[in-house]
Amino acid sequence: MAAFLFFVLSSAFYSGIAAQKSPLNISLGSSLTPTGNSSSWLSPSGIFAFGFYQQRNAHAVGIFLAGIPEKTAVWTANRDNPIFSSNVSVILSTDGRLILQLPEGQDITVVDPSEPISSASMLDSGNFVLYDSVKRIIWQSFEHPTNSLLPRQQLIAGQELISSASETDDSRGIFRLVMQTDGNLVQYPVGAANKPETAYWASGTFGDGPNVTLNLEDDGHLYLTNSSVNLVKNLSDGGHPKNKMIYLMKIDVDGIFRLYSYSVDQGRNWSIVWESSTDRCDPKGLCGFNGFCTKIDNLVDCKCLPGFQFVNQGNWSLGCERSFVTDSCNSTDSNVNHTIEFLENTVWEDNTFSMVNTGTREDCAKICLEDCNCEAAFFKDGQCKKQRLPLTYGKRETDSNIALVKVHKHATIDEGVIPSNPLKCRKEEVRVYVLIIGISLVVLGVLISVIAGVYVRRNQVWAYKQVSQFRNVEFVENVAPRAFTFAELEQATNEFREELGRGAFGAVYKGILPDSEKVVAVKKLEKVLAEGEKEFQNEIKVIGKTHHRNLVRLLGYCLDGAKRLLVYEYMSNGSLADVLLKPENHPSWDERTKIARDIAGGILYLHEECETQIIHCDIKPQNILMDENRCPKISDFGLAKLLKRDQTRTHTTFRGTKGCVAPEWYRKMPVTVKADVYSFGIVLLEIICCRKSLDWSFSEDQAVLEDWAYQCFKAGELHKLVGDQEVVDMRKLERMMKIALWCIQDEPALRPSMKKVLLMLEGTVDIPDPPSPTSFLSST
Ligand SMILES: *[C@@H]1O[C@H](CO)[C@@H](O)[C@H](O)[C@H]1NC(C)=O
Ligand SMILES: *[C@@H]1O[C@H](CO)[C@@H](O)[C@H](O)[C@H]1NC(C)=O
Ligand SMILES: *[C@@H]1O[C@H](CO)[C@@H](O)[C@H](O)[C@H]1NC(C)=O
Ligand SMILES: *[C@@H]1O[C@H](CO)[C@@H](O)[C@H](O)[C@H]1NC(C)=O
Ligand SMILES: *[C@@H]1O[C@H](CO)[C@@H](O)[C@H](O)[C@H]1NC(C)=O
Ligand SMILES: *[C@@H]1O[C@H](CO)[C@@H](O)[C@H](O)[C@H]1NC(C)=O
Ligand SMILES: *[C@@H]1O[C@H](CO)[C@@H](O)[C@H](O)[C@H]1NC(C)=O
Ligand SMILES: *[C@@H]1O[C@H](CO)[C@@H](O)[C@H](O)[C@H]1NC(C)=O
Ligand SMILES: *[C@@H]1O[C@H](CO)[C@@H](O)[C@H](O)[C@H]1NC(C)=O
Ligand SMILES: *[C@@H]1O[C@H](CO)[C@@H](O)[C@H](O)[C@H]1NC(C)=O
Repeated sequence: MAAFLFFVLSSAFYSGIAAQKSPLNISLGSSLTPTGNSSSWLSPSGIFAFGFYQQRNAHAVGIFLAGIPEKTAVWTANRDNPIFSSNVSVILSTDGRLILQLPEGQDITVVDPSEPISSASMLDSGNFVLYDSVKRIIWQSFEHPTNSLLPRQQLIAGQELISSASETDDSRGIFRLVMQTDGNLVQYPVGAANKPETAYWASGTFGDGPNVTLNLEDDGHLYLTNSSVNLVKNLSDGGHPKNKMIYLMKIDVDGIFRLYSYSVDQGRNWSIVWESSTDRCDPKGLCGFNGFCTKIDNLVDCKCLPGFQFVNQGNWSLGCERSFVTDSCNSTDSNVNHTIEFLENTVWEDNTFSMVNTGTREDCAKICLEDCNCEAAFFKDGQCKKQRLPLTYGKRETDSNIALVKVHKHATIDEGVIPSNPLKCRKEEVRVYVLIIGISLVVLGVLISVIAGVYVRRNQVWAYKQVSQFRNVEFVENVAPRAFTFAELEQATNEFREELGRGAFGAVYKGILPDSEKVVAVKKLEKVLAEGEKEFQNEIKVIGKTHHRNLVRLLGYCLDGAKRLLVYEYMSNGSLADVLLKPENHPSWDERTKIARDIAGGILYLHEECETQIIHCDIKPQNILMDENRCPKISDFGLAKLLKRDQTRTHTTFRGTKGCVAPEWYRKMPVTVKADVYSFGIVLLEIICCRKSLDWSFSEDQAVLEDWAYQCFKAGELHKLVGDQEVVDMRKLERMMKIALWCIQDEPALRPSMKKVLLMLEGTVDIPDPPSPTSFLSST
């Protein structure tokens, strides 16, 4: 049967090239199932198809080359949520939606154009197009690339391609190719900010205007043009044979992007026409933290630093962790138990915290051994640069740089120590941290938290996998928010009977979705907005695309006349305010530090890692909800933009002069991400001290927490802030207090970015003493 089908398809392919047929109209009511005759809609020539294709253990929905034996996928819907059940169908519903229908009865939107669909076509170019009733294109796959580009498809400024997780799994992997609005086409690891230090390839067309576009032609010409459609740069010259050839540009699993050709006549295989790099160690992050890339001929291999082992032998990008438990470090006798191993010809990202000019590498080793903060060092040209773990972006290269790594003399492999899944929000994890007296060197803690925190997105991909592997049902939630009718939500909340709380934007009610029995929180937006439906839906899409374990997930919305409602996942443990202020709930110091890191990770994601930058504008303990494991999740993000900015403004002014609100709100200064950093600083103070930022039950000098905190800090009396009954690591307390005081600087430019905040919370960077939060103002 398969062979027969293949024969049919390949003959269709040949005839398709000879005579162009007009594309089939896929009409409302059409459907596909993964098994059986109609698993896809073919393009007229049979080269491309839209429909189900097989992934490792699951079905995916997307566009693939049906006319060749390899069935190469070129576009994937809902990338991170493959489908496990065979009892599903893709339906172009009679009400004009393209949906995936599951046996559980819940629909997943496959693509979501802003208007109802009237028909669809799978074109021979590989473009899947949706039309409205007057045959206008309302959505096309060419405008929403995933990991590949086909001839005549463009990657326009602001768009990016993301590699697949593996050859057999098209969910989001760990590398990106970004067409930047500064004209440069750049490759970065996923999860790293768009900065020169994290880039590993660039077209070098920076400054060629805001609308530079990457184009591919059907003769294999791959090039960049500017907004006046002038050639800016050729990547691959054209002029390759066109006849019976298929070209495809793809960012591969290994992070390199390549232009492939496929000859239907000869060879019947994909061959590389052009590639962004021939050095397969170039892509940064391939080997994860503390790992480095080596190659013999063209075979790459990842290795760990001496004294380290792979977190998971099969997944290089998860990096390496110490194979021993570090004990306390005492600078006077640190060489009793530690020694230095040398690693020649390797280069790393330089995160020097202190540099010393020394003569020899042995001197450098001695200097590092005597400094408890020094976990590794780089020695080059007489300079000894001290580093903290993790070391990143390592690769072997002919270079005089020598990496020095501090290792334990009696290194014993203790595999039981490090939890294999650092992402689960478990309380035990906190206890794993090795508490160290004296100068704290929480190597494990850093490792665990860095893995969990900085590369959130990379791990998110990994988390998705964990979820989808073990809990098939969960993936239903991982999709775009669903539209509800008002009647549905009225019924789900039992006519808005149980009010959970009331915020600036309206009241929140508890509800149960009838089809899935899922408990949800339904937010009724009160201030009816001037915004039209389109803007509302656009904003909802942005919010719906944010997925992070420390953000409350938006499950659905309702847009019914003037009524606007939002449906969120339900958080059973109330808000951070409840947790901090009720003595019986009081989290331990360790738990509080973890909560702070989690919140910072969530804000960082909003600021730097999600598709569109989101400024929260209203970070406060009431907006941070706690799930059943007391893992914090930020709620209400995106609402500031959804509702009119003015409303946020009025809402903030009546709150008085102090609180979680940054001074720029009432100073006619532009509000940037730094406003959230300010609010985070206040929340951090509240977490540290387990009290409200403004509490007039305290004496006058203590009522305003930020003022009192700075007084205590200056006077060296931080213990006053936490009370006597609690066991607190004073060094960590001082660190946290310094971070908070930097965050609440009146001058936004003095506040650190969230990325920096997270690094400081993790203990990977030094923190200078903060000035008085108001010093800048009083001096101007
Ligand atoms: C597709 O539908 C349009 C009207 O919507 C019609 O004009 C056209 O002929 C149809 N094409 C095919 C191939 O059926
Ligand atoms: C598949 O198609 C053939 C011929 O068109 C038909 O006889 C057969 O019943 C179909 N099978 C299914 C499962 O629909
Ligand atoms: C498939 O799902 C339908 C409901 O959508 C159900 O009636 C049927 O029993 C399911 N079949 C299998 C094989 O699970
Ligand atoms: C596009 O490039 C051409 C040739 O380099 C240049 O003359 C033109 O000004 C550029 N257009 C823009 C909008 O940058
Ligand atoms: C770039 O594209 C945007 C959106 O299409 C447009 O508003 C802007 O004017 C363009 N800029 C230039 C310099 O062409
Ligand atoms: C770029 O490639 C095109 C198509 O092959 C060719 O005509 C053109 O001369 C090339 N331009 C440069 C600057 O190399
Ligand atoms: C792929 O096809 C080309 C000819 O198009 C041939 O030279 C090459 O050896 C083939 N590669 C493999 C791995 O079969
Ligand atoms: C990690 O490795 C395990 C086993 O080696 C494998 O099952 C899993 O799919 C891998 N994950 C990724 C992201 O490659
Ligand atoms: C460090 O070691 C020296 C000598 O063993 C000892 O005198 C000193 O008290 C130790 N310091 C700390 C902070 O443990
Ligand atoms: C050195 O290691 C041994 C065994 O692991 C331990 O008992 C001892 O306390 C360590 N000494 C120092 C100074 O850390």
